[in-house]
Amino acid sequence: MMDYRVQYAEYLALFTRVLQECCDRYLPESSEVCRAARYSLLGGGKRVRAVLTLAACDLLDGDREAAANFAVAVEMLHAYSLIHDDLPCMDNDDMRRGQPSCHKAFDEATALLAGDVLQTEAFAVVVNAPASPESCLRAARLLSAGAGSQGMVLGQELDLKYEAVAATEKQLRQIHHCKTGALINAAVQMGAAAAAAPQPACQALERYAYDLGLVFQIVDDVLDVTGSEAELGKPIGSDAQNGKTTFATLYGADGAMQLAEAINQANCAQLQQIFGEKAAFLAALAAQLLCRHS
Ligand code: IPE
Ligand code: IPE
Ligand code: MG
Ligand code: MG
Ligand code: MG
Repeated sequence: MMDYRVQYAEYLALFTRVLQECCDRYLPESSEVCRAARYSLLGGGKRVRAVLTLAACDLLDGDREAAANFAVAVEMLHAYSLIHDDLPCMDNDDMRRGQPSCHKAFDEATALLAGDVLQTEAFAVVVNAPASPESCLRAARLLSAGAGSQGMVLGQELDLKYEAVAATEKQLRQIHHCKTGALINAAVQMGAAAAAAPQPACQALERYAYDLGLVFQIVDDVLDVTGSEAELGKPIGSDAQNGKTTFATLYGADGAMQLAEAINQANCAQLQQIFGEKAAFLAALAAQLLCRHS
C-alpha cells in the first residue's frame, strides 16, 4: 500500500537536494539578482509541480535523478512566473509564501531580473541534466511549450486582458488552461520524458494534468475569496481588487467547489482505469489539492 505522506516527503527530500545543487551551480550569491531569485525560489511553496514530475517519472519507471533536475527547472520557471505575477503592473500583490513579494524585499528592477534569470537558468538546468540528449531535448521542448506563447505567458496575457471585460466560462477555462494547466502539464510530461514514455501514456497523463490544473486554479480562485492570508501566505481579495472574473464570481464559492469536485472525480477515475494501482499517488495528490487551504 502506498503511503501518500511518506511518498510526498520522499519526493520533497530528493527535490530539495537537487534544488540546492542547482542553486549553487546556476545562481551565484555574489549577484544581487541571483540573491533575489534564491529568495523567491527557496522561500517555500508546496512544490506541487516538482512532485508531479517525480511522481509521473515513478509511474512510468523512469530515471529519478533526471526527473529531479527537470523538477527543479519547472519550479524555477514557476517561481519566475510568481515574481512577475506579483509585480505592480500585474496583480500588484505584496506578499507571497508568507513573506514580502520579491519586488518588496528587493526592488522592482531586481525582481524583474530575478524572474528573467530564473527563466533562463531553468533551461540550463534541463539541458545539463544527467539524462540522455534525447530526454533533455524532449524536456526542453516541453518546458518551453508549457511556459511560452501557447502556455503560461499566453494565459497571463489573457488573464490581464479580461480584467477590463467579464469572461465567460469558456474563456475562463481557456485562461486557466494556459496560465496554470500548461505548466502543470509540462511538469508531468517532463517526468514522462525522464522515463522515455511512449505516446499513449503521455496522452493519458496530459488529460490528467490539464484537469488537475483546472481544479487547482478553481480552488485558488475560491481561496482568494474564502481563504485566510495567514494560511495562504498571499493576500486574499486580490482577484476582486483587480476586477477578475473567476469561477468564484461565476458560480459562487460553493458552486465553484462542486464543479471542481466533479471534474476531479472524473479525472481520477480515468487515470485509475488506465494505470490501475500505480495511479494511487497521483489520484491522492489530486484529492489533496482539492481540499487544500494553502
Ligand atoms: C500559485 O501556485 C499560482 C497558481 C497557478 C495558482 P501554487 O499554489 O502552486 O504556489 P506555491 O508554489 O505553492 O507557492
Ligand atoms: C497565477 O494565477 C498564475 C501564474 C502563472 C503565476 P494567480 O494570479 O491567481 O496566482 P496567485 O493567486 O497570485 O498565486
Ligand atoms: Mg495573476
Ligand atoms: Mg496573482
Ligand atoms: Mg490566485
